[in-house]
Amino acid sequence: MARERIVSADEVVEDQLDPQSHTLRPRALDEYIGQSALVERIRIALDASRTRDEPIDHVLLHGPPGLGKTTLAHVIAAEMGSRAYVTSGPALTKAGDLVGTLTRMQPRDVLFIDEIHRLPASVEEYIYPAMEEYRVDFTVDSGMHARIVTLPLKPFTLIGATTRAGLLTQALRSRFGIAHHLDFYDDGDLERILVRAADLLSMKVADSTLTRIAGRSRGTPRVALRLLRRVRDWAAVKSGGRVDDKSVDGALELEGVDAMGLDELDRKYLTTLARQYRGGPVGLDALAATLGDDAGTLEDMVEPYLLRRGFLSRTRQGRRLTAEGAAHIGEKLIEVPGALFEE
Ligand SMILES: Nc1ncnc2c1ncn2[C@@H]1O[C@H](COP(=O)(O)OP(=O)(O)O)[C@@H](O)[C@H]1O
Ligand SMILES: [Mg+2]
Repeated sequence: MARERIVSADEVVEDQLDPQSHTLRPRALDEYIGQSALVERIRIALDASRTRDEPIDHVLLHGPPGLGKTTLAHVIAAEMGSRAYVTSGPALTKAGDLVGTLTRMQPRDVLFIDEIHRLPASVEEYIYPAMEEYRVDFTVDSGMHARIVTLPLKPFTLIGATTRAGLLTQALRSRFGIAHHLDFYDDGDLERILVRAADLLSMKVADSTLTRIAGRSRGTPRVALRLLRRVRDWAAVKSGGRVDDKSVDGALELEGVDAMGLDELDRKYLTTLARQYRGGPVGLDALAATLGDDAGTLEDMVEPYLLRRGFLSRTRQGRRLTAEGAAHIGEKLIEVPGALFEE
């Protein structure tokens, strides 16, 4: 998982090191571009909560990485004028970690739990009464002296984010008043995100050049912003700082990103599927083993975009290359049932 792909939707060190990445994060709901159905739901929930002077319902955000889940959690806290406490499923190893934070929180504060599908079961149990009745019960002492202490909490909002909603227990999932799947952004939304970013970074760049970057960004704001930075760097070194279509092509060719936004790993995935497995169907585990990669990584980082592009299909028998996918890597699909490939 240490691989750093320029098109990775996951946050990489480069994103964290960039001092400007914070400036680019939308702070208010009005600055949050795209995802209109979700934004509308949140807006209504916020308005209603203001009139009742209550926090908004607990929110579960699921979808591929880099689409704005963490950003939205902070935006919601900002819109409520409250603070966001940020943690993650794997970081909460003991219930005690959580109890400390919960009891410190003020009314309407937000508890953001990233990767909530990785919350240990023992911690999850403490969350149920916290979410439903704003209280935690915990056991002090043990054996004969054990007793349960109940602590009241201030009304708060839990926001959970996950790339794997399917791994959540039904019990946890049902306790969120708002659950929403974030989908990939269309190129128009990505372009608006890039226009805003270029503006904030005081870059002079034509809209058509930003369109070109948007088309290679895999429907993912995080990728779009990273490509923009790379293009800017390339231009600074190679073309006297002029950011135009040539700088986009030059920078992305250097990075191995093609016109559809696919990188080497994506193409290797498709090529392996075509050549070793004759287009499939093949199980994910077998494919992962051949690629020398982790099945979970492929499922989260590679497949969503290939599926979305229509290069790949998931069938009950396994992964299958589509005619479009084959064409993209220059392989020819023989149109027979079973989708075999020419040698
Ligand atoms: N709707 C949006 N509008 C503008 N920028 C966005 C939007 N969603 C995400 N971004 C940008 O993309 C980056 C990645 O978003 P993030 O919230 O970290 O994604 P996630 O938590 O889903 O992995 C953020 O730094 C933010 O600047
Ligand atoms: Mg995140």
